Amino acid sequence: MDVFSGYYKKSVDERIKLLKEFAGLTSDEVSVLEKTGSLSPDIADRMIENVVGSVHLPLGICTNFKINGKEYAVPMAVEEPSIIAAASNAAKLSLPEGFTADADEPIMMGQVQITNVKNPETALSVLRKHKKEILDYSKEFAKGMEKYGGGVKDFEARILETIRGKMIICEFYIDVRDAMGANTINTVLEKTAPFIKEIIGGTTRLRILTNLAVKRKAVAKAVWKKDKIGEEAIEGILDGYAFADADIYRCATHNKGIMNGIDAVALATGNDWRAVEAGAHAYAAMNGYSPLTKYSLNKNGDLEGLIELPLSVGTVGGAINTLPTAKIALKILKVKTARELSMVMACAGLANSFAALKALSTEGIQKGHMRLHARNIAVIAGAKKPEEIDFVSKKLAEESNYSVDFAKKILKEMKK
Ligand code: MEV
Repeated sequence: MDVFSGYYKKSVDERIKLLKEFAGLTSDEVSVLEKTGSLSPDIADRMIENVVGSVHLPLGICTNFKINGKEYAVPMAVEEPSIIAAASNAAKLSLPEGFTADADEPIMMGQVQITNVKNPETALSVLRKHKKEILDYSKEFAKGMEKYGGGVKDFEARILETIRGKMIICEFYIDVRDAMGANTINTVLEKTAPFIKEIIGGTTRLRILTNLAVKRKAVAKAVWKKDKIGEEAIEGILDGYAFADADIYRCATHNKGIMNGIDAVALATGNDWRAVEAGAHAYAAMNGYSPLTKYSLNKNGDLEGLIELPLSVGTVGGAINTLPTAKIALKILKVKTARELSMVMACAGLANSFAALKALSTEGIQKGHMRLHARNIAVIAGAKKPEEIDFVSKKLAEESNYSVDFAKKILKEMKK
């Protein structure tokens, strides 16, 4: 997008001004972005317990994302330098085609655990016989979702062998539309569990959604052309992927690189990133812990990257309605549905994965990482004025020496 060309070279004020025009932000929204402490103690106090303040993370914009032909400015909240630069660069290298993505309907699953059932086999067949009544009963508690096409869609039960004997596990499939859905699902489960108990007896225990949202996956794909990134980079990325595929120690870090982008978008948009993390890693482990992105050569000898993972994220409800920056982030993203948000997140994950493998398998990540971290080091060393920070960080990069002592020395000489 032209509006974002050279975005990284602009001042924070200039970037906000451009964003204001791009996303049609109001002056109030702009002032939320300008004040780094945009979460008032009142709002924070309503969100969690024992509030004493709030923690802030930088919010940045990833550029160059084109997904299914639509251009996106992708907000990321993250403390680590180079994640936004890396994803923006990976997205740029995927152009002009960009990414293609898709996502399932937002179907989540919730579980009710019933223990101490006298005859689990009989109970199971009784439950199956009463499926329609149970479904009808449960639907009442997700009625609000029905007018948007959501609501309780299905019910299943099974016997689970555990270290404490056989248990009945009832599973509800609920279309939560544009919400992450936890509150609706847990309400349906808690309200319906007594009805189930009336039918089969036993002791009702846990009633909770699963974060392994296998029916709510997002997939994305991009092709990085060999004449754009070079054969050496392609070979390096394929070798890096093969390493992760064969070795769990590498695979954990491979998947961490993916979550760098995904979590950062989740945080920026007020989504529950722990839920996203839990779902991603459980999904990766379903058939032996595996990489969430896969790379191969296509028939033209270009690199094809794929990602597939469950993403239970929302664009309404929960903290999204409360956090002022989350609403602005969604406005910048211009996503219309939670499905669309999950597609963008999958693309961000793929972009960060590609960028990490490309850097790791060629020049290493420290050069770029430290170059971006240099400004932090300059500040730690005592640089305060913008010209001091610029001068010191530039010298650190020139000398490839990023020690705080060296930064202090440069600063001292500069001040002389
Ligand atoms: C650092 O935040 C992420 C990486 O370690 C990911 C990877 O190793 O693929 C660079």
